[in-house]
Amino acid sequence: RAAGLPDRFGRVATDLRVSVTDRCNLRCTYCMPAEGMAWLPRRELLTDDELLRLIRIGVERLGVTKVRFTGGEPLIRPTLETLIAATSAMRGPDGVVPAIALTTNGIGLDRRAAGLVRAGLGRVNISLDSLDPDRFAAVARRDRLDDVLAGIDAALEAGLEPVKINAVPQRTYRDDVPELLSFCLDRGLELRFIEYMPIGAPGWSKDAVISADDILSALGEAGYSLSEDRRPRGSAPAQRWSVTAPDGRTGRVGIIASVTRPFCGDCSRTRLTADGQIRNCLFSTRETDLRAALRSGASDDELIMLWQGEMWRKAEAHGSDGAHGSGEFGDSARRMSA
Ligand code: GTP
Ligand code: 5AD
Ligand code: SF4
Repeated sequence: RAAGLPDRFGRVATDLRVSVTDRCNLRCTYCMPAEGMAWLPRRELLTDDELLRLIRIGVERLGVTKVRFTGGEPLIRPTLETLIAATSAMRGPDGVVPAIALTTNGIGLDRRAAGLVRAGLGRVNISLDSLDPDRFAAVARRDRLDDVLAGIDAALEAGLEPVKINAVPQRTYRDDVPELLSFCLDRGLELRFIEYMPIGAPGWSKDAVISADDILSALGEAGYSLSEDRRPRGSAPAQRWSVTAPDGRTGRVGIIASVTRPFCGDCSRTRLTADGQIRNCLFSTRETDLRAALRSGASDDELIMLWQGEMWRKAEAHGSDGAHGSGEFGDSARRMSA
């Protein structure tokens, strides 16, 4: 049987995104309601051994070359270091070492960054939507800006390179967008702005999206000059620009325009949820249950067939722009945090 995780449209998934918990210590308004979510009961979460078995199958048998740990908030899983250490000891068919990355809100990273790097972590993306404590707290519904900033410092000190900052701009974007860019230019952080997607808290509407064009015009108004980086970006979700600040500092900025400029054609992602479901797209309305198979004694080959089957059903595009709707994609029952 053919190796790898191809789909019907010629794409091959080589990037595995693993959610290690659906829980979070923030309540970002675009992601979840104030009361949080109905968290998964512990018995429904994959154990470390189960997670590692599936990651190993991905790396050793299915061509996965990059493993990104996410959540919820992945630092909430106390064994994250163990998971990363075990993953970094895995090898692909030609001895290929998997690249290991983490997407986190940064809380607790100040105490764990060095240990995560020792375990084998290579890169980190940290979410930060505003540098103003009140505006931060209004989005995250928790007053934790200082913890996040300490986490960013620790990531830089631990030698992670690059450290990327993810920001979902809010109504206050005319202030936040240039402030965040200035902060990131000073520290050598790679900033990406993300358009608000219909996959978080209920009540998304197109009018609430701060678009790539809005972000570019806010930066222009603040005196930044930008030139688009036209090199092919492969499967990376961010479109990139070189920027020069009004005071002459230079750097880069990215925009992840999932809503106004979808990038499904180059997608290389496959996703594993904390409760053992394979998803072929962030916006998918269907999943394949590997946990049930795993817990009823499936062999590696049987798990591979199921995983490949789910990826084969990947639609051409997620359709959230209304242009490529497939019917199978739309408002996912599973929220971004899960
Ligand atoms: P790198 O570019 O490798 O650093 O990672 P990343 O940007 O894929 O990972 P990250 O977890 O930081 O994700 C940032 C944002 O990218 C998410 O909030 C999404 O907006 C967007 N994104 C990631 N994967 C997908 C995807 O498969 N589809 C869509 N539409 N957006 C995605
Ligand atoms: N739209 C866009 N980005 C979102 N994120 C969480 N929910 C949404 C949403 N509805 C972002 C987080 C994090 C990244 C993984 O996804 O801010 O940086
Ligand atoms: Fe937590 Fe990330 Fe959702 Fe914010 S966006 S509530 S940090 S999972």
